[in-house]
Amino acid sequence: MTQKIAVLPGDGIGAEIIEQAVRVLKSLNLPLEIEHAPVGGTAYDLHGHPLPPATLKLAQESNAVLFGAVGDWKYDKLPREHRPEQAILGLRKALGLFANFRPAILYPELANASSLKPEVVSGLDILILRELTGDIYFGSPRGVRQAPDGPFAGSREGFDTMRYAEPEIRRIAHLGFQAAQKRQRRLCSVDKANVLETSQLWRDIVTEIGKEYPDIALSHMYVDNAAMQLVRAPRDFDVIVTGNLFGDILSDEASMLTGSIGMLPSASLNASGQGLYEPSHGSAPDIAGKGVANPLATILSAAMMLRYSLNQPAQADRIEQAVRKVLQQGLRTADIFEAGMTKVGTSAMGDAVLKALA
Ligand code: IPM
Ligand code: MG
Repeated sequence: MTQKIAVLPGDGIGAEIIEQAVRVLKSLNLPLEIEHAPVGGTAYDLHGHPLPPATLKLAQESNAVLFGAVGDWKYDKLPREHRPEQAILGLRKALGLFANFRPAILYPELANASSLKPEVVSGLDILILRELTGDIYFGSPRGVRQAPDGPFAGSREGFDTMRYAEPEIRRIAHLGFQAAQKRQRRLCSVDKANVLETSQLWRDIVTEIGKEYPDIALSHMYVDNAAMQLVRAPRDFDVIVTGNLFGDILSDEASMLTGSIGMLPSASLNASGQGLYEPSHGSAPDIAGKGVANPLATILSAAMMLRYSLNQPAQADRIEQAVRKVLQQGLRTADIFEAGMTKVGTSAMGDAVLKALA
């Protein structure tokens, strides 16, 4: 049965890195129907909206979305609803992609690229499970108004609403425990229950659900402490489950432990297994069009897509092994380059992965 993939390259380096991932997918000779559509600032320039209706429709009709990156400084002055970031937020919400898997794995070949000492990070393998459609990102009311009361009454104030409903916490918690069952059976739930009501509810519900998973060692950690432990003893973590805002911040921090955010894929899934796959890094407009961006995070995102949405785990393994092989061969894009290695550009890295697959 043919499976449909929406390819949304987006802005900045998006087009270059996506091109390499699409080459890899096509080389597998699977029955895939691949269709491209504009998204982000590119779509705004073409159609006046970062997520045009035709792009959203294509994403909704597809088994999976392969997403590049969005954003460029030149759109920073647009009203918020027209900024490129609204495309990814809109896709997450419209497709109900509540579960965001962000693995942070240190490839032994890249141990020197980490900002931490090799003895602190070698063997690092963390999975951050970030809730993606709730929290202060989407809570209402929000806005800028005249403060109605308090010491600053009458001045302008900005406000957002952090909120989580019980079913939202339950479904992400279950996925956290289930992910831990496939790994080292340790789940750390990260919150700010010492201050926030939302977090107290989160902690109570995760604790309750934990009773259904006696095989999993559950711990709770405040987010400030988690940020510290991630750089102090990152290997103490196995699976981290957390809300949208804390997950955004901690996953960027975790990515740096691995040396380069240019290596990290991510998957965002809904309840029916439909998913959006994107590199964890952004659109890097400063290096766009130069052919130097690292395509490996996007290629690894395509592997996650094969595993989680297209039911092709063996092909996913093959791609991941091919990536390992090119690293072992000493090929490095600029972001992971070190002396003694061979520096290559975006398409040469794609060539090497294709060759390793053959
Ligand atoms: C991410 C990004 C997005 C987020 C932005 C681009 C809206 O930082 O995917 O982590 O905050 O979720
Ligand atoms: Mg982020």
